[in-house]
Amino acid sequence: MEFKEQLKKYQEIINRELDKYLRKDEVPEKILNNSMEYSLMAGGKRIRPILIMATYKIFKNDIENCIPYAVAIEMIHNFSLIHDDLPGIDNDDFRHGKPTNHKQFNEATAILAGDGLLNQAYIVISEDLKQSNKQELESKINVFNEFSHAVDRMIIGEYVDTEYEGKKISNEYLEYIHKNKTGALLRLCARIGAMIANANNEDLNRVTSYAEKIGLAFQVKDDILSEEGNEKILGKPVGNDKKLKKCTYVSKYGLEGAKEILEKITKEAIEEINIYGKDAEFLKQLAIYIKDRNK
Ligand code: IPE
Ligand code: IPE
Ligand code: MG
Ligand code: MG
Repeated sequence: MEFKEQLKKYQEIINRELDKYLRKDEVPEKILNNSMEYSLMAGGKRIRPILIMATYKIFKNDIENCIPYAVAIEMIHNFSLIHDDLPGIDNDDFRHGKPTNHKQFNEATAILAGDGLLNQAYIVISEDLKQSNKQELESKINVFNEFSHAVDRMIIGEYVDTEYEGKKISNEYLEYIHKNKTGALLRLCARIGAMIANANNEDLNRVTSYAEKIGLAFQVKDDILSEEGNEKILGKPVGNDKKLKKCTYVSKYGLEGAKEILEKITKEAIEEINIYGKDAEFLKQLAIYIKDRNK
């Protein structure tokens, strides 16, 4: 199957599954639920759940096993986006070509919708743990532990990102921000896929190295798009990193420098998983997609 076709198929799976997990209660919390659904179903690319499923697929075929984790990570991701857009963080008015959550609803609702999605993710995982047998529980508890630590890293990365606005930053700290705010969740996704599939340590390390590289590449590309993307296609503002004096790969290395780094880490990511041959074809194409994407 062609990469684009497979990507679409994965996106359809995750959209269908997310819809099943959405809370659709009536009053009095209807607006909060609508606000959570508004962001979750706004048209994200679903890269993180796809990375879980595609990594799992290297080792096993029955991807149903990782669905709760794929759903949970997308909830976490959307919580992070809602809060990232808030006036106190990036103060952005558009995402996915629509008003950001706090613009569509209000700040209080957006904060609570983010909190709601964060907690909902843990509910989804705990329900899965509750239904698992003793044998499955061992690896799933490890997954749960890594999950919570990766979310913690993402939050820390977001904090350091805001803290360094307008300040001079070292190469090390810039890499630290990107590896945490964006890389931690992507790294986690590859590890979840491998761990749920009971991959051995060597395989786990290999997919981890791949994901660490595409995780960094993902944010470097995000920095490039914030500089020269097409706002209509991107669905979010271009030029905001500059406006907020964000520390990015573009502000540090220039546009061309950032593009060179992106090429280099993408190539290295692909090399990490070459050993799997055709079984990792999708993941190799995914690395290229991340590098070449325009949204
Ligand atoms: C945007 O992530 C925020 C970053 C971590 C760079 P995505 O580009 O994956 O967001 P959506 O969900 O596809 O919009
Ligand atoms: C977002 O980083 C990272 C997280 C939400 C964890 P950015 O602020 O650079 O991403 P965009 O450009 O708003 O999507
Ligand atoms: Mg931000
Ligand atoms: Mg932002």
